[in-house]
Amino acid sequence: MTADPMPSEYVTHGPEETEALAARLAARLCGGEVIRLHGALGAGKTAFVRGLARGLGADPHEISSPSFALMHVHAVTTRASGPPAAARMPSPVRTLVHVDAWRMVHPDEFIELGLDAWLHAPGTVVAIEWPERLGDALAAGRIIDVTISSEGGDRRRIRIARSSPDS
Ligand SMILES: Nc1ncnc2c1ncn2[C@@H]1O[C@H](COP(=O)(O)OP(=O)(O)OP(=O)(O)O)[C@@H](O)[C@H]1O
Ligand SMILES: [Mg+2]
Repeated sequence: MTADPMPSEYVTHGPEETEALAARLAARLCGGEVIRLHGALGAGKTAFVRGLARGLGADPHEISSPSFALMHVHAVTTRASGPPAAARMPSPVRTLVHVDAWRMVHPDEFIELGLDAWLHAPGTVVAIEWPERLGDALAAGRIIDVTISSEGGDRRRIRIARSSPDS
């Protein structure tokens, strides 16, 4: 695995801090990543995706828990935050795809939605809540696992682990 200067474990104390952490991760993405978000109901997975949107330069206000749609596709306009040097550079990521598989009945639903075409596509970051519902479909390619666990109140422990096919 490539050396990652970002530490892999954090504690946040509110949704804003979780968003800020995700925005920092977003500034380091170059497209093709699949981010699997693990954690119980209300852990902060959607909050994390909102931070990804902010960091990539998509509209964070568009990020919601998909109630009827299982998948949302967000255009990235410009890299909005992140390190100053990155903020001046056009983002290599053009699209953020947000999937919430909580209500998914069968993994085939995502093939019908066309998720396959977005997974690991150049210029695209796919963030998936409840990825275990998709079975083996997400096992290959560049994966970032984000695991959020509540430690009471607004305190969340967030672990970030990267894996890549060439590791
Ligand atoms: N440190 C924190 N990080 C993230 N969210 C927090 C934190 N502290 C409190 N919260 C609250 O926890 C809730 C997280 O909601 P969110 O929708 O992001 O969870 P989720 O993991 O996506 O849940 P679901 O499985 O239902 O989709 C929000 O109400 C948020 O304000
Ligand atoms: Mg959610």
